Amino acid sequence: MHTVVETDVLIVGSGPAGASAALALSTYGVRNMVVTRYASLADTPRAHITNQRTMEVLRDLGVEEDVVAQATPQHLMGNTTFCTSLAGEELGRVRSWGNDPLVQAAHELASPTRMCDMPQHLMEPVLVNAAIARGTDFRFSTVYKSFVQDEGGVTVTVEDRLRGDEYTIRAKYLIGADGGRSKVAEDAGLPMGGQMGVAGSINIVFDADLSKYTAHRPSTLYWVLAPGATVGGIGAGLVRNVRPWNEWLIVWGYDVTAGAPDLTEEYALSVVRQLVGDDEIPVTIKSSSAWTVNEMYAETYANGRVFCAGDAVHRHPPSNGLGSNTSIQDSYNLAWKLKLVLEGVASPKLLDTYDAERAPVGKQIVTRANKSIGETAPIFEALDGLSPQTPERLWANIAARKDATEAAEKQRAALREAIAFKVYEFNAHGVDLNQRYPAESSAAVVPDGTPDPGFTRDPELHHQPTSRPGAKLPHAWITSGTRTLSTLDTVGKGRFTLLTGIGGDAWVRAAAAQPLDIATVVIGPGQEYEDPYGDWANLREISDAGALLVRPDGYVAFRHAGTAEDAEGVLTDALRRILGHG
Ligand code: FDA
Repeated sequence: MHTVVETDVLIVGSGPAGASAALALSTYGVRNMVVTRYASLADTPRAHITNQRTMEVLRDLGVEEDVVAQATPQHLMGNTTFCTSLAGEELGRVRSWGNDPLVQAAHELASPTRMCDMPQHLMEPVLVNAAIARGTDFRFSTVYKSFVQDEGGVTVTVEDRLRGDEYTIRAKYLIGADGGRSKVAEDAGLPMGGQMGVAGSINIVFDADLSKYTAHRPSTLYWVLAPGATVGGIGAGLVRNVRPWNEWLIVWGYDVTAGAPDLTEEYALSVVRQLVGDDEIPVTIKSSSAWTVNEMYAETYANGRVFCAGDAVHRHPPSNGLGSNTSIQDSYNLAWKLKLVLEGVASPKLLDTYDAERAPVGKQIVTRANKSIGETAPIFEALDGLSPQTPERLWANIAARKDATEAAEKQRAALREAIAFKVYEFNAHGVDLNQRYPAESSAAVVPDGTPDPGFTRDPELHHQPTSRPGAKLPHAWITSGTRTLSTLDTVGKGRFTLLTGIGGDAWVRAAAAQPLDIATVVIGPGQEYEDPYGDWANLREISDAGALLVRPDGYVAFRHAGTAEDAEGVLTDALRRILGHG
């Protein structure tokens, strides 16, 4: 007999996108199932930089502490070093990932969370374990083959790799989180822009005690400018820390037109020896794999009841550490919308806003990550080390920077400037936190009539908080009795939240009158929440009696500067638009 299994949301893939979709849906009480190709989760480190926005998402989903417990902390991430090899000459450093004192202050002001380095093979089990504990039906060794959709749902054929047979899963919605070679995205006919296979790269994972060369300049990344380092790859040779200071991952390029080299242990060891520069250190090669640098993004993320998330819709190099971050944030954006539609609270039109909000973000991060590769070239240029590059010439130019000549002084200045410019890759706080969903493109955001003030500083480098609809709720430390908490801690958990202050009673009553569950948060002296530092008053951009309606994903959906004569009517109209009933 042909088996048909039923669920509400079927997720294909257990990477960061699929695992976090499952976690969010199970946290919200939505029935969901994951099918994933292999018998285990990721067995190599892959994505690792975990930015503050992702940590906020994980905080809301209740796994922040599990991640912090295993991750390399922020203070060990920040001395991005450029060198000729780990044992060789150092050319300079960039204070990175919030470790510059000024950027560190900005990080502290922006979020209750800290950035960290959480390799993917550690992150996936945290997400998947929590998802399963909360109800996700998880099926390893199960391969997505095809889908057919109709008005009531999606019928998906999968192959059970253990039994070798196929069966059918009937779901109301399908999420394709099946990575950079997504078959779901292909079958859904999602239009793609850009190109795959821009350059060739190799990952080599190895064990070696490199503390001698790293513990005094702790960092996640050590970039090696060596002969051959501009061929393919991601800008230069990279020695990436996986676990301080014994486990590592090297990224090294190859000429994509010539094809990947034979990844023998001998080859891997020769690359490790070149980039480490000390043949005395014992090295154990754990794995090697070839991959390509891609510059591709989907122009549409959905087709009917099928939604794609993560690398399925944005494919780019690891520069800026945006891969798993953006994937997790995609799923977080989609999960609450699916919940409300499945509960019948929202119209299916709400789901259209997933594409409207996330597709521009995907395009932006694909562009940023690829641009960052190009921005390494000036470092080589400062050393006159671009092709035709010979080892002798590169070493001679590197040595020449120590001369007491005018030319060498110029070279030193050019090198400093080129290295400092890499903040756009290693300290781009705005890229991490400034994602906005303008009301002009998203129906799940209600315009409040205020003009877009734009950014006062470089939006890629600096986070600019605002409560304008379409922006993430600003973080401020507030108190409740003896407890100190973030404004972000008052929202989320799958619910809308209305924030107001003294004089905002009409908004509180209006929220209670709605047919959906809206949490209310009143901040002010003598209220459940207080603002002892005045931080919230400085950030909220509304008066005490005004209101912010915050979506379950922490984004401001509606803002009203003060009291409204008909608060209930105003809020009802706003929700009608947000929930797609308008
Ligand atoms: P991801 O690729 O993680 O997950 C896809 C999931 O779908 C997997 O569970 C897969 O088994 C499953 N799947 C695929 N097809 C299926 C099918 N037909 N049926 C069932 N399941 C299916 N990023 C970075 O920032 N730094 C880095 O160093 C690296 N290194 C790196 C190395 C390698 C080898 C890879 C493949 C990727 C990286 N990345 C990376 C990229 C990073 O891993 C990536 O951005 C995120 O994992 C994206 O998460 P997703 O969940 O979208 O896809």
